[in-house]
Amino acid sequence: MGEGAERVGVGMVGGGRIADLNKLGWLEHDRGEIVAVCDVNATTREARAAEWSCRAYGALEDLLADPDVDAVEILTPHHLHADQAIAALDAGKHVSLQKPPTTTLAEFDAVAAAAERAGTVCKVFENFSFYPPHRLARRLVDEGEIGEVLSVRIVTAGGRGEGQGWNVPPEANAWRMDPALCGGGMMTFDHGFHCFQMGRMFVDAPVERVHAFINVIDFGDGLQIDAPALISWRYGGLPPRFGSWELVASLELDVLSDYYVSDDRIEIRGNRGIIWVNQCTGKLLQEPALVLYRDGEVRSFHRLETDWAASFRDSTFDFIDAVLEGRPAQLTPAEARETLAFALAAQRSAVERREIVVAELGS
Ligand SMILES: NC(=O)c1ccc[n+]([C@@H]2O[C@H](COP(=O)([O-])OP(=O)(O)OC[C@H]3O[C@@H](n4cnc5c(N)ncnc54)[C@H](O)[C@@H]3O)[C@@H](O)[C@H]2O)c1
Repeated sequence: MGEGAERVGVGMVGGGRIADLNKLGWLEHDRGEIVAVCDVNATTREARAAEWSCRAYGALEDLLADPDVDAVEILTPHHLHADQAIAALDAGKHVSLQKPPTTTLAEFDAVAAAAERAGTVCKVFENFSFYPPHRLARRLVDEGEIGEVLSVRIVTAGGRGEGQGWNVPPEANAWRMDPALCGGGMMTFDHGFHCFQMGRMFVDAPVERVHAFINVIDFGDGLQIDAPALISWRYGGLPPRFGSWELVASLELDVLSDYYVSDDRIEIRGNRGIIWVNQCTGKLLQEPALVLYRDGEVRSFHRLETDWAASFRDSTFDFIDAVLEGRPAQLTPAEARETLAFALAAQRSAVERREIVVAELGS
């Protein structure tokens, strides 16, 4: 794709569960197009090629050799991300890399170095940052509505799986049960990347210290879930500011959802006001998506787009527009590295049963 190109052609690498949401932006943006898919599973790649009317490849190098592929979306299990992203960047492609971008900081630094060499757009795809109520919350913080942010509290409600929300195929859970492939817990590392990003999104200070209690529920047959969990952290600088993420596993709770059966609520407290974002992936309670309290008055925001899918569409739009405009996309590698270090610090804290200074993980 040359300077001033009209369209961005993407190769989707991995056509599994999340491709159903990552495809949306490509189908809806008038200057984006899915031109190819690569999946090692022949049934999956043929089905996706038919669905998207695009070419199908079984090997990444063949997709990367396709001159119509300007950019790649990496939607494979986490342990493959680093090598695939580096191969794509070395082939001169723009890369959108699903969270968690890698399983270690060393791998992440190799990806960031490849991005630097390539000079193409390298985006770590984290969609909670694009969820419309979260974006409004950040805007209200920027506009000073709640004064200085003093605390961020996140609660994730995991609910009953049967008969609700998405059908997640057993293959999509299998690799998530193997620490060598997933790098950390399916809830506290995989889903956690979103919550750690939320922990960073509303406070303009680095997260310096982290403590995590992470329980593991063993369901037998090789299925485990790293829940419940309670993770807390301290931001750098003054005044003293703390954040927390509580993950509650309510295994008999109905969580209304069109996607995963979980929902996230965020409370951002400032020295003058409070913001609540009451839903995200699911629709646990029928409350306004965002509520603002300040000066004795409550404002409720009802007219926001609250479908979780919108966060995927808008994050993909950001990638396509960044490629077309020659600007960085969100998350940049530098931003994503901070979130990854935060996530890894929480994993280490739970294992070593002590508070972790994030800088211990290496700067
Ligand atoms: N942003 C989000 O909210 C969100 C949600 C779910 C998953 N994800 C991320 O997306 C990624 C994929 O998750 P998923 O749930 O779709 O998993 P999945 O198991 O459903 O899909 C992975 C796909 O990759 C394919 N694959 C495996 N090895 C491959 C290879 N070497 N080359 C090409 N294709 C290969 C598999 O055949 C499968 O179709 C993970 O990194 C996950 O963290 C993000």
